[in-house]
Amino acid sequence: MHYFQYKDGQLHAEDIPVADLVEEYGTPLYIYSASTLKRHYKAFDSAFEGVAHLTCYSVKANSNMSVLKILAAEGAGTDIVSGGELFRALRAGVNPKKIVYSGVGKTAGEIREALFAGILMFNVESTQELERINSVAGDLGMVAKISLRINPDVDPKTHPYISTGMKENKFGLSRAEALSTYVLAKNLPHVDPIGMDCHIGSQLTTLAPFLEALEKLKTFYLQLKDMGVTIQYMDLGGGLGITYNEEEPPHPRELGQALVEALKGFDVTLILEPGRVIAGNTGILVTEVQYTKHNEGKNFVIVDAAMNDLVRPSLYGSYHRIAPVREVSGEETIVDVVGPICESSDFLAKDRALPKVAQGDLLAAFSAGAYGFAMSSQYNSRARAAEIMVQGGKHVVIRKREVYNDLVSLEEEGLAMVDELGR
Ligand code: LLP
Repeated sequence: MHYFQYKDGQLHAEDIPVADLVEEYGTPLYIYSASTLKRHYKAFDSAFEGVAHLTCYSVKANSNMSVLKILAAEGAGTDIVSGGELFRALRAGVNPKKIVYSGVGKTAGEIREALFAGILMFNVESTQELERINSVAGDLGMVAKISLRINPDVDPKTHPYISTGMKENKFGLSRAEALSTYVLAKNLPHVDPIGMDCHIGSQLTTLAPFLEALEKLKTFYLQLKDMGVTIQYMDLGGGLGITYNEEEPPHPRELGQALVEALKGFDVTLILEPGRVIAGNTGILVTEVQYTKHNEGKNFVIVDAAMNDLVRPSLYGSYHRIAPVREVSGEETIVDVVGPICESSDFLAKDRALPKVAQGDLLAAFSAGAYGFAMSSQYNSRARAAEIMVQGGKHVVIRKREVYNDLVSLEEEGLAMVDELGR
């Protein structure tokens, strides 16, 4: 359920006509609904009320600081995967004691920053990483709280690029390796193994893979207990899917009920790292039709948003619903909605039935709140879109539109000096 609805034939973001925001800020434009964001967070978090738990929103889905600030005010922690995400989370006011740090390639510098910040724990993905954390913490005279990311070898039945918990993936430790690494962790002076972690993939549309992974973690938990390692935190990662098209993923309530039930008798605090299910349907990307054209039996609608703004269709063949901002009726035609970038992979939709649109019309791509702006780039020297947050009848620019100078400012110094190379 989200607050992007048509009223009197005009798409609204909460109480504001989308066309009014475009009038003021231009296109391409990301628009988010704060009420939707909060609603999704609450729906997710309250699903786990039955157990001690911490919801750590996965920053990578949408890392705008205003998004983080709104969620932090609701009580959310965050799951981060880089020093940059740590920086954003702290700036936005996230409580460091609610931050978990995942990712296979943490540098010594990033580990130091996270230790200084006093995060809740590191989700460690290899034995070498554990040794590095121990050494960095030792240099600082600190003890780092850690969990090991277990690769449970579960097939999440999602796109291969976003499957992460199968044995051929780069993530986590096999259970056999994790056992010996927990023993090592117990013996190292500057790490304290307090948690167990896994994340099996993203855009999961059934409960079964979550439960299969949890069963494996529970067995492992008991094995560790026998060895004298008592785990306090069980982190099941993120991954709950959303409806882009016709998917029918379980409601967070169903996931909550199933996990709470499965954890009966286990004295652990559950950690969850949802990203997409919180942010995905809180945002749309609005774009203006530049041209329409017909080539060899194909119809193209050329818009001013491109793969640099929303890469998911190009990268994963993902579906985003696209609809005109001003409702139009009448016959639909089959079109490709494409951007101006010089690659055939630059499309927002392929073979899509759309009502007839013309130059100057506005289109909205839905479900663009997660992995939309966060994955945007300046490819083809395209300045990035602005981001607007709406609540009720009010709105705020939460990221200004980039200008040409933002494309070149970090190159100016080099430009002034590059001739020196030939002297
Ligand atoms: N925790 C970890 C360790 C993760 O790697 C991820 C996502 C999450 C949590 C959050 O997963 P979510 O709840 O959002 O499914 N760019 C892709 C998605 C990549 C997800 C990577 N990891 C997309 O646009 O579909």
